[in-house]
Amino acid sequence: MNQEEFKRRRRFMMEEVGEGNIVIIASAAEKNRNRDVDYPFRQDSDFYYLTGFAESNAVAVFIPGRQQGEYLLFCSEFDAQKALWEGVHAGLEGAVEDYGADDAFPIEDLDDILPGLLENKARVFYPMGRDSELNHHILEWVNTLREKSRSGIRVPGEFVSLEHVLHEMRLFKSSQEIAWMRQAADISTKAHIRAMTSCRSCQYEFQVEAELIHEFMFHGLRSPAYPLIVANGANACILHYTENSSRLQAGDLLLIDAGAECNYYAADITRTFPVSGRFSQPQKLLYQLVLDAQLAAIEQVHPGIPWNRSHEIAIEVLTAGLVDLGILSGAVSELIEEEAYKPYYMHRIGHWLGMDVHDVGDYKLDGQWRVLEVGMVLTIEPGLYIPKEDTSVAPQWRGIGIRIEDDVLVTDSGCEVLTDAAPKSIQEIEALMQAG
Ligand code: GLY
Ligand code: MN
Ligand code: MN
Repeated sequence: MNQEEFKRRRRFMMEEVGEGNIVIIASAAEKNRNRDVDYPFRQDSDFYYLTGFAESNAVAVFIPGRQQGEYLLFCSEFDAQKALWEGVHAGLEGAVEDYGADDAFPIEDLDDILPGLLENKARVFYPMGRDSELNHHILEWVNTLREKSRSGIRVPGEFVSLEHVLHEMRLFKSSQEIAWMRQAADISTKAHIRAMTSCRSCQYEFQVEAELIHEFMFHGLRSPAYPLIVANGANACILHYTENSSRLQAGDLLLIDAGAECNYYAADITRTFPVSGRFSQPQKLLYQLVLDAQLAAIEQVHPGIPWNRSHEIAIEVLTAGLVDLGILSGAVSELIEEEAYKPYYMHRIGHWLGMDVHDVGDYKLDGQWRVLEVGMVLTIEPGLYIPKEDTSVAPQWRGIGIRIEDDVLVTDSGCEVLTDAAPKSIQEIEALMQAG
């Protein structure tokens, strides 16, 4: 792993935090699934962002300007038995040699060492939004210090959210991060192409899921970035459908929301295509409308443009289109005002993308939508979902769910669609599926 990247992040973070202060952050915890089996472990994104250290049971401490070392890692000591049963772990030596810590200590010594490190520090930066166990320990360490404090020892008086610093950093992607996101995007687009070309040999949604995962793993990415959605027909109208257990139906559309994770960076792609390889006329009309909205929204992605502009444009295109198709009736501006589109398009245009699929970073600054800047990555994913029981629309539209989602990098000249290689025009999809 590229240690320079992690070193650069730590340096930047410590400059933001400033001397005289301390940062404490814990790894994710293992989660039991049943009896002796745990869920696959995935490191906490903020912890990994700073350390590149993928083990559980670890705490990183940063003390900007400390002469004896600024970066301390508390982790498991090397244990031959543990290595035999669970595999390689860094141990204290590895923490220093391979992960760039200035010093490393056994995790069991945390309670003995931490109060001393808090001495004379003004502010403690730690992740406030989660990990109640760490929050609890920090209070205990501060109280221990307070009890022991002789005159002249200062006890930290301010507790500051580390997220505030880290999440602003994570919002802007470095060239290394973009390279990892590009790889996640490339392999995920291959998976969508494989799903389109193999769909007709599948009987169930989960068999298409298997094709997607095969492609991720075959190209070296072990994990999806989130539970995959493979939704036939009206299942696509359930936004977080992950059962993936229905039979594929030849006359239906199939909505696939699938992205892989590469070195902790997510891709997030949705494509919707006909199970049979040919769109019906109503499917074609609704699909083209969503695609028009998506293309118009992507056109808005440009440095200096407010984040929300894409959402507003998509709503305009979708509402006008729904009127043209007779699904809504009235004046477009009034329908937008009344949010008449909401029963059919109920989510926002997208989200920041990075280590977390719904990535960190503020969407508003001082109450205003923030403007896009070079290095941000976001998704653009409008959709239309016509409930099958909605008797207010003509039967031909009912039970159709469509979303088209791409990952977009903001660049100097506008934007780059990282996931462009996954076909999305009606012609391209039909041609690929006929050939497949
Ligand atoms: N796959 C989650 C999302 O599209 O937001
Ligand atoms: Mn998304
Ligand atoms: Mn998605």
